[in-house]
Amino acid sequence: MKHFINLKDISSRDLRKILIDAKKRKQSRKKLNNLDNDKGAPLKGKLLIQMFEKSSLRTRLSFYLAIKQLGGSTLTLRPDELHLSKGGESIEDTAKILSNFGNAFMLRTDNDVKLEDFKKYLSIPIINGLSPSSHPTQILSDVFTVEEIKKKPISKLNITWIGDSNNVLNSLIAASIKFSFKLKIGCPKNYQPSRNVKNYIKKNRNKVSIHYDPKKAAKDADVIFSDKVISMNDKVNKLKKLNQFKKFKINKKLMSFAKKDCIFLHCLPRGKEVEESVFLSKQSKVWQQALNRVHVQKSILLYCFGKLR
Ligand code: CP
Ligand code: NVA
Repeated sequence: MKHFINLKDISSRDLRKILIDAKKRKQSRKKLNNLDNDKGAPLKGKLLIQMFEKSSLRTRLSFYLAIKQLGGSTLTLRPDELHLSKGGESIEDTAKILSNFGNAFMLRTDNDVKLEDFKKYLSIPIINGLSPSSHPTQILSDVFTVEEIKKKPISKLNITWIGDSNNVLNSLIAASIKFSFKLKIGCPKNYQPSRNVKNYIKKNRNKVSIHYDPKKAAKDADVIFSDKVISMNDKVNKLKKLNQFKKFKINKKLMSFAKKDCIFLHCLPRGKEVEESVFLSKQSKVWQQALNRVHVQKSILLYCFGKLR
């Protein structure tokens, strides 16, 4: 049994194994319907319990399909209906019940410590479905999408992030270390990655560069990533922050600094950080990106269950 909380804590070898398995599985179910099982239904009889303390559309749907296709099932808990939040039931007791009734737990939370606390008391795997510090299932799936479209290992590509220094970027930085790719970050000076994140980059001698001029960040990119400037529960002066990001808006002009065949990716939901002319252009691969989460999360589930081929 393995947990999936942070890309940093998983070996490059295991992450690569997940992507290889996802590719094989995706290819082998081209003619199947969404709810048809993968051959052998490797997670037959298994229950994935999901809980979202914050909104979700894609993560919810993709985990639903992922466990179904593997032959298992899922149940989504509403945090406001549990004794954990209302009646003060402890994480320890909640975790014991989850472990007795279910086989894996996916949690989207506003508190990184909660993931660690659950991990301590669960005897089933826990998967981080987004936390304030990371969004590992999203980024592993995005590495898959990049390699699928570019038909090259991501280590041979120039990856750019233009946007806020948030959870999704933190996972992209961790991925850049695990998969050895060059990463340029374009953001306003006062919204650059935290000191902790910069220390992590330094410690791993990675080639991440930070640019306060978005054109420099976009230059020669094979892939440009972005995300909302204001994340869920971002406790900032929203107007002020949006104003500071104005010149980082992704438009055709900014895309023209990248390579001609540069693709645009965005985990969604979107805000005003990208113009429709880019978001709806041929360069944008956001729908393929969203759908790939099903395929990669299936292999993440198998990794957690110790059943990766
Ligand atoms: N990208 C992503 O995680 O989307 P949701 O918030 O809709 O799950
Ligand atoms: N950074 C965004 C990602 C949403 C999927 C947020 O945390 O709200």
